[in-house]
Amino acid sequence: MMLRRWIAAGMVAAATVGVLSAVPAVAERPYDPAAQSLRALGLRHGLYIGTAVDMAALNDPADPRYRELVREEFSTVTAENVMKWESLEPTRGGYDWAAADEFVATARRDGQRIRGHVLVWQNQLPAWLTAGVADGSISTAQLRGILRDHITAVVTRYRGRIWQWDVVNEAVSDPWDNPPALHYKGFWAEHLGPGYLADAFRWARAADPTALLFYNDYNIEAFGSGNPADDKTQFVHDMVRGLLARGVPIDGVGSQGHLGTQYGNYDPIQVAEALHRFAGLGLATAFTEVDVRSRLTDRVQAGDSEEINPRLQASAANFHVLLQACLAEPRCLSFTVWGFTDRHSWVPGWFDDPPQGLATIYDENYQPKRAYQLMKADLIYAGPPYVRPRVTPRPRR
Ligand code: XIL
Repeated sequence: MMLRRWIAAGMVAAATVGVLSAVPAVAERPYDPAAQSLRALGLRHGLYIGTAVDMAALNDPADPRYRELVREEFSTVTAENVMKWESLEPTRGGYDWAAADEFVATARRDGQRIRGHVLVWQNQLPAWLTAGVADGSISTAQLRGILRDHITAVVTRYRGRIWQWDVVNEAVSDPWDNPPALHYKGFWAEHLGPGYLADAFRWARAADPTALLFYNDYNIEAFGSGNPADDKTQFVHDMVRGLLARGVPIDGVGSQGHLGTQYGNYDPIQVAEALHRFAGLGLATAFTEVDVRSRLTDRVQAGDSEEINPRLQASAANFHVLLQACLAEPRCLSFTVWGFTDRHSWVPGWFDDPPQGLATIYDENYQPKRAYQLMKADLIYAGPPYVRPRVTPRPRR
């Protein structure tokens, strides 16, 4: 009875959005949702489930499971590094497209949508650029031209093949920065002023009329005080509202979703409310880099299950909170994890003092963790009336 109701709801949802990827119920073998991939289950809702892809792991012949799982479990992919500026333009005007081309070709062959990451960011810039600005050999006017040329070259190369572009990434400071009042931070704001944001979106739109253009950032999963001086979500909300008011072609806001179990984090209602308020501006939303890390204390590292289990549970709960909120917001188009296995995760290398890890949905041996099962359960048991078909905006001009 329950199963039949579920199948009926699934068929309605799939039919409404025009995708019927999971074929329910053959007579001999009943449809078993738990045996479906995240990819198939997401598409019942018109929701794309994604992962960041590490090209070295994808190409490692000794690690075939990585490639298999990327293909089987995910309907959208993001290049973890190979579309960043230092990779694409290692020398001034000298582009190296090889790895990014291969990433795009693989995704297309596997029928996956692509999130382009990233056009403008203060990290992973090539040394020629930062050194040239520092020593004065690149003037402000030249820097603006360099930015325009880079965006134009990259977006043009992949024109028509990128679903969502992260046009600007992490432009806003955090309350622990100096000064603590939230402000536009980093290389581009320091050298060009905040006007570079509007320019970047306009240049990206000029090079690709169909990609959805996103602003992407972390710590914008939920509203705080509502004061833009200390509430980053409010600051970003006000920022994108201002861009829209000036006719800037921005289509979406990406919430990275890098969480940690030590922080407790949010509940689905808070997160859904934030998505809903961004959607209320007429924008798409997406979770773009979800992972939920934990402190690796000595006892965790020694394999003490009493220490490990609560971390796995808490991590799973945070994936669930974000996914449930996304499912509930028709304009939340995709849910991407930043690496899907602890075997290839940026967390241990980046957050090493104190050590952190256990941040993804599969363990180091590609065994699905509690987080994977909880995501799967969300995709199986969520349905109308709370969960509705996705609404994709037309690219704004
Ligand atoms: C990270 C990658 O995962 C690492 O491999 C790299 O060394 C540093 O960047 N926010 C982003 C991503 O937008 O691009 C970052 O990716 C993680 C934080």
